[in-house]
Amino acid sequence: MIHLVKVLSKSPEETSEIGKIMGGILTGGDIVALSGTLGAGKSVIARGILRALGVEGDIPSPSFVLVAQYEGGVPVNHIDLYRLTSPDEALGLGLEDLLGGDSVSVMEWADKIESLLPEARYDILLEQGRGPDDRFITIKSADPGLRKRLMIMGKLLEGFGR
Ligand SMILES: Nc1ncnc2c1ncn2[C@@H]1O[C@H](COP(=O)(O)OP(=O)(O)OP(=O)(O)O)[C@@H](O)[C@H]1O
Ligand SMILES: [Mg+2]
Repeated sequence: MIHLVKVLSKSPEETSEIGKIMGGILTGGDIVALSGTLGAGKSVIARGILRALGVEGDIPSPSFVLVAQYEGGVPVNHIDLYRLTSPDEALGLGLEDLLGGDSVSVMEWADKIESLLPEARYDILLEQGRGPDDRFITIKSADPGLRKRLMIMGKLLEGFGR
C-alpha cells in the first residue's frame, strides 16, 4: 500500500496541473493541508485544486480574510493561515464547522494548526528543488482510509518527474 506520493514540478504551470489532477479526485468533506515556505507554491497548487472543483473567476489570496468560501461543483473553503497569530484564533474562526460537512477545504500554512486538524486529511508539502522553478511536491495521509485515493493520485501523477 502506498503511503506517500512525491513528484517534481518544474514550473508554476505544472504545479497548477498537479493541483487540477488532485482536485479531480477530491469529494465533499475532504481536507487538503498545504505546507511549505513563502513562495513555495501553496497558492498556485490551491488555485489548481479549486479550478478542478469548479470554482470560476478570480481566486484572490485569502490571507487577510483567512477564509474564502466558494460554490464550485461542491462548496469549497480556501483558507490561508499565514496571518494567524495563535491556534486559538483558528478556533475562533469556526474552524471545526468549516472542516466538517460537505465542503472541500484547502488550507495554506496548515502546519500552524496541525494539532487541531483531523487525521483524515491529505497533507501536501511543497519544497524548493535544485533549480529556481523546481518544487518537490509530497502528498501523504496518515489516515489508512485515504490510502486508496492516494494511490490513484500517484497513478495519475506518474507523468511528472520524481
Ligand atoms: N514549480 C513551481 N510551482 C509553483 N510556483 C512556482 C514554481 N516555480 C516558480 N514558482 C513561482 O513561485 C511563486 C509561488 O507563489 P505562491 O503564492 O503560490 O507561494 P505560496 O507558497 O502560496 O507563498 P505564500 O506563503 O507567500 O502565500 C510564484 O511566483 C510562482 O510563479
Ligand atoms: Mg499563498
